[in-house]
Amino acid sequence: MPVPAILLPADPLNPRRPDPHFAWEARLLRESGGEHHLVDHDALLAGRAEEAVLRVPRGSGPLWYRGWMLPSARYAEFSAALTARGGHLLTSAAGYATAHELPGWYGVFEGATPPSTWIPTAGAAPAAEELAAAAARLGGSGPAIVKDYVKSRKHEWHEACYVPELADLAAVGRVVARFVELQGEFLAGGVVLRRFERFAGLPDAGRGVGGPGAAAPGGAGTGADGTGADGTGDGAHGRGDGAGRAAEARVWWLDGEPVLVGPHPDGPRHTVEPDLDGVQALVRTLGCRFVTTDLAYRADGSGWRVVEVGDGQVSELPHGIDASGLLTSLIAA
Ligand SMILES: Nc1ncnc2c1ncn2[C@@H]1O[C@H](COP(=O)(O)OP(=O)(O)O)[C@@H](O)[C@H]1O
Ligand SMILES: [Mg+2]
Repeated sequence: MPVPAILLPADPLNPRRPDPHFAWEARLLRESGGEHHLVDHDALLAGRAEEAVLRVPRGSGPLWYRGWMLPSARYAEFSAALTARGGHLLTSAAGYATAHELPGWYGVFEGATPPSTWIPTAGAAPAAEELAAAAARLGGSGPAIVKDYVKSRKHEWHEACYVPELADLAAVGRVVARFVELQGEFLAGGVVLRRFERFAGLPDAGRGVGGPGAAAPGGAGTGADGTGADGTGDGAHGRGDGAGRAAEARVWWLDGEPVLVGPHPDGPRHTVEPDLDGVQALVRTLGCRFVTTDLAYRADGSGWRVVEVGDGQVSELPHGIDASGLLTSLIAA
């Protein structure tokens, strides 16, 4: 059986080298005995998939991708262009969309992830009635989060991500409109509303030890109170910058097995030890070969929640993490 090679984005300034962001993965892959080929990310994004894969040898057989996120439609073109050259991505276009977009994975993870609803849009903010109906589907009151099928604007937390009260439909409309405006042409799929849940936070400077490992069984220390018990609903975003303050573990799954459990790239030096029992069965039900799940521990101590699912090919790998086992598993898959 041929061994899968890994496709990486080329450096736009030097197409013979990997993009500097992925150079360490290329190095690690080489050290693990693996092979990579380069693709032109800009050409992929521009819908010129045949051109993007010209450096991939013909007849390359099984392939994984590790690179920047692609819209699902662009990934489908990527996959087709590789097939035309005798290669095949081990994650199909349908599998990619399933793991990459919230509506694709939500049905399987419902109950293990904050309740969510969505409104498909073609780039314009949804009408007031549609937002009111969506808010009602989430129970009609309490705090919520806005994102699209793939990404949030967590760095513009108060402006374009966090809704303090769903019953305040004018405020829901304002946050959603600002979110849609800021996403612009990059809005993926539509607008998602999710009920806000309090998660244990990363230890804040000035708050001393604590954080999620603290609240979690098996974690060390005390005081998982970085979650802003201040009644503002900021939760783990108590610093006000909203910059991903929940402490999340990113679990990398290959064929239903966790091959790497590490910190989320937003808190790369923070270790969390999530309980994977419940999640593993859901990942297996999802049926995608290579995915990530971001897990956070509920501030009330009631357990781990899936914040997001992602396609493993386009999930950010925290720099410096020991990913050799992950890469070895991929090229043995
Ligand atoms: N339902 C939620 N309740 C509480 N916090 C949330 C919720 N959804 C997202 N967050 C917070 O916002 C951050 C960004 O949301 P996420 O869904 O992971 O989007 P992104 O794709 O932009 O990372 C998360 O890391 C988490 O800290
Ligand atoms: Mg996230």
